[in-house]
Amino acid sequence: MREKLELLERRRGESELGGGAARLKAQHDKGKLSARERLDVLLDENSFVELDRFATARSAAADGDTPIYGDGVVTGYGRIDGRLVYVFSQDFTVFGGSLSETHAQKICKVMDLAVRNGAPVIGLNDSGGARIQEGVVSLGGYADIFLRNTLASGVVPQISAVLGPCAGGAVYSPAITDFVYMVRGTSYMFVTGPNVVKTVTHEDVTMEQLGGADTHAATSGVAHFVHDSELASLAAIRELFRYVPSNNLDEPPRGPGTDPRDRREGSLLDIVPDHPSKPYDMHDVLRRVVDDGEFYEVQPAYAQNIVCGFAHLGGHSVGIVANQPAVLAGVLDINASVKAARFIRFCDAFNIPIVTFEDVPGFLPGLSQEHGGIIKHGAKLLYAYCEATVPKLTVITRKAYGGAYDVMSSKHIRGDFNVAWPTAEIAVMGPKGAVEIIYKREIAQAADPVAATDEKVAEYTATFANPYIAAGRGYVDDIIDPRDTRPRLIDALDTLRTKRDRNPPRKHGNLPL
Ligand code: COA
Repeated sequence: MREKLELLERRRGESELGGGAARLKAQHDKGKLSARERLDVLLDENSFVELDRFATARSAAADGDTPIYGDGVVTGYGRIDGRLVYVFSQDFTVFGGSLSETHAQKICKVMDLAVRNGAPVIGLNDSGGARIQEGVVSLGGYADIFLRNTLASGVVPQISAVLGPCAGGAVYSPAITDFVYMVRGTSYMFVTGPNVVKTVTHEDVTMEQLGGADTHAATSGVAHFVHDSELASLAAIRELFRYVPSNNLDEPPRGPGTDPRDRREGSLLDIVPDHPSKPYDMHDVLRRVVDDGEFYEVQPAYAQNIVCGFAHLGGHSVGIVANQPAVLAGVLDINASVKAARFIRFCDAFNIPIVTFEDVPGFLPGLSQEHGGIIKHGAKLLYAYCEATVPKLTVITRKAYGGAYDVMSSKHIRGDFNVAWPTAEIAVMGPKGAVEIIYKREIAQAADPVAATDEKVAEYTATFANPYIAAGRGYVDDIIDPRDTRPRLIDALDTLRTKRDRNPPRKHGNLPL
């Protein structure tokens, strides 16, 4: 027995060496942690339980090579704040973390366990792609993972940290997952690398420009979170789980709820400027309303004209979607629509109520938007709000114009609690645009067209650009004192805890892609 135990201990030790000391040093020299060090940072202390540590590559055995235990990926389960999560962490020191048949099978095993046991999957990606020596078998392994990513979508949260290269077909696993984290300077994602790009399109690009963290955070929208270090990135993943449940049947975790529920916020009276075309930062509103001013923003660098993120309100976990008047006047464009639609669908899938703060002048006009498909992309946002059955709360702080009024969680599309501040302007369009259309002839014939326009604008503003017509119809449930925003939202969230609503049975809807 003792001898056998010694052998086991020796082999366990060997399994932790990965690709050996020299390759581990090279990994550290690049400013990267090893696969196991990353799991130590991500998970609660001593909570990691490894599975399949003795799995080896079939190709290595066939080639007569010494097999490397684990085959380039460390898999298993552990805890984040005591909650179960399944993990895989690719080991770049073993064949560049490349994906073999065995490597893929290990990942699939933890994904299957995660779905069966209702726990999130967190993938730490650092890989040279398909194991070249294994050819199509390795490609099959990727497909096995993609299928599981798709079937697990909306069942358990799936998180990807890209902490090294992630190229070729490999990118499509993170792309299907709910949130992608990247690190500046060491993470890269692209379908084809700079050399192929040069050959095909003659464009000269660096890895960073093509698929670095900031590129994906600000330009492509592929990454949701970017940090300067792996430590910060892994800490941020832990933080996400303060808001997100373990599966689609669970309630999201409650916040500490120490911020007084009845806290009135006097400073909210001074944020919206008197002049309707003056910008303000919607973050200033959000931070004053949510618990302890803590807002976990998703895609903060992308489509900044809409703000999405998680917070707690009276301890309730909520997803916030807010137009941002400080960027492009808070207009809805293609990128903002897609960003918010995906966020809303995540919240709806995982029982997280959606709180919308609305100040929207409409959809962005222009050739590039129309030709880029603002119609179908804007429809995604509309569709996402319409199909969501989680509690939906809306606060109109200022503008709610045109089709965008309908889209932004209006009463008509099953908004549960819709309120407006007295500064709200709920109308088909802004006063100036409206006057120029409906009083076109009168203005053209007036002795002083400018004065005539001003007069009509004032008349229109007094008549239409306010919340009272909508309130008169019941399209907003109340017009509230902005200082009461937090207590009113918390109270409404309490009433909606037992909300029941469901969509008609069907295979699935046909989201306008
Ligand atoms: N299959 C098998 N082994 C691979 C591999 C792959 N796809 N990618 C990398 N490796 C191995 C290398 O042979 C090397 O092995 P060694 O330590 O025994 O020398 C090790 O992983 C590290 O690779 P290296 O190229 O030295 O690292 P790097 O940091 O300079 O470059 C990459 C990293 C990912 C950019 C580079 O390895 C690469 O281009 N790999 C192929 C990417 C690809 O086209 N994959 C298929 C598409 S799905």
